[in-house]
Amino acid sequence: MDELRAAVGLQIADEQLLRTLASGLNEVEDILRDVVRSDVQAVNEAATHLVEAGGKRFRPLFTLLASQFGDGGRAAVVTAAASVELVHLATLYHDDVMDEATMRRGAQSVNARWDNTIAILTGDFLFAHASRLVADLGTDAARIIAETFGELVTGQMRETVGPGAGEDPVEHYLSVIAQKTGSLIATAGRFGGMLSGAKPEHVEALCRFGEIIGAAFQISDDVIDIASPSDESGKSQGTDLREGVRTLPMLYELSADRPDPRLAELLAGPLTDDELVAEALGLLRKSSGLERARVTLSDYAQRARTELASLAPSPARDACESVADYLVARTY
Ligand code: IPE
Ligand code: IPE
Ligand code: MG
Ligand code: MG
Repeated sequence: MDELRAAVGLQIADEQLLRTLASGLNEVEDILRDVVRSDVQAVNEAATHLVEAGGKRFRPLFTLLASQFGDGGRAAVVTAAASVELVHLATLYHDDVMDEATMRRGAQSVNARWDNTIAILTGDFLFAHASRLVADLGTDAARIIAETFGELVTGQMRETVGPGAGEDPVEHYLSVIAQKTGSLIATAGRFGGMLSGAKPEHVEALCRFGEIIGAAFQISDDVIDIASPSDESGKSQGTDLREGVRTLPMLYELSADRPDPRLAELLAGPLTDDELVAEALGLLRKSSGLERARVTLSDYAQRARTELASLAPSPARDACESVADYLVARTY
């Protein structure tokens, strides 16, 4: 639990809440380990690989936290929490293929350790199991997770295709991150509230908080891809630069009155050469674009906090607030 608290920045003073979340997460962990088992050794190994590598388990934690605004611990909430993590995990298997990433959760990515085919099929396997779990939660939940996945994939597709002619690149980026990352975190909150019988307006607030905090999470992740070394992030640094994915700090820098000309030249396309990646990272770290991205991140965290206003003050609400604060702090 301490590890997890540090990873997602949860500040929980309330012992009882801490125990409830810890025991919920243990149950989630059991489901995850059970689900990834297969008689086929290749499936078993590739599916177990990233579950065991760890990860912050932020999405299931948020589902459990959101259930505190209803009547708390029901079996359905734990099932929903595990399904959301499985959908997330499935998207990571696919994402690392698309981003040609070599590291994930401090371990080798599945595409690097095995190959793209294994990574894609294992992602599908995990998604299939997530769907099976959600089926037990009823047709509403099944529809919600299906819509969420559609939204997430659309975000990934729009990121790949890039902004359309005449579309503002920053607006495009912000709507893409709401889709690819915010949508699933919103659903994590919705499930927690909905399956614990929270009031509809509270479920909506948790969902909106989730979407905004999810986008903030992605902005902080994109800042970290530039600002932090791999041994801290557990991923290979500069992946976005290598893939030619323009994240917020880069977009701000390129739209500045006087962008650094060398940086603009480097950002014109994917960078394959390690030295050029290092040069671009160095320039980005000193750029005004990075600073502006941090300001936008703070704005998002502030907006997320205001969504919590309709919820009754409680240790669970304080915990949600502490996540918002942490996302800003972790980029420094
Ligand atoms: C990674 O998500 C993908 C993004 C949305 C940035 P996490 O940062 O939650 O990844 P894990 O689950 O902790 O590995
Ligand atoms: C992660 O996106 C995948 C989804 C949000 C669906 P990114 O490619 O931006 O995240 P990392 O940096 O690889 O975790
Ligand atoms: Mg990626
Ligand atoms: Mg990606």
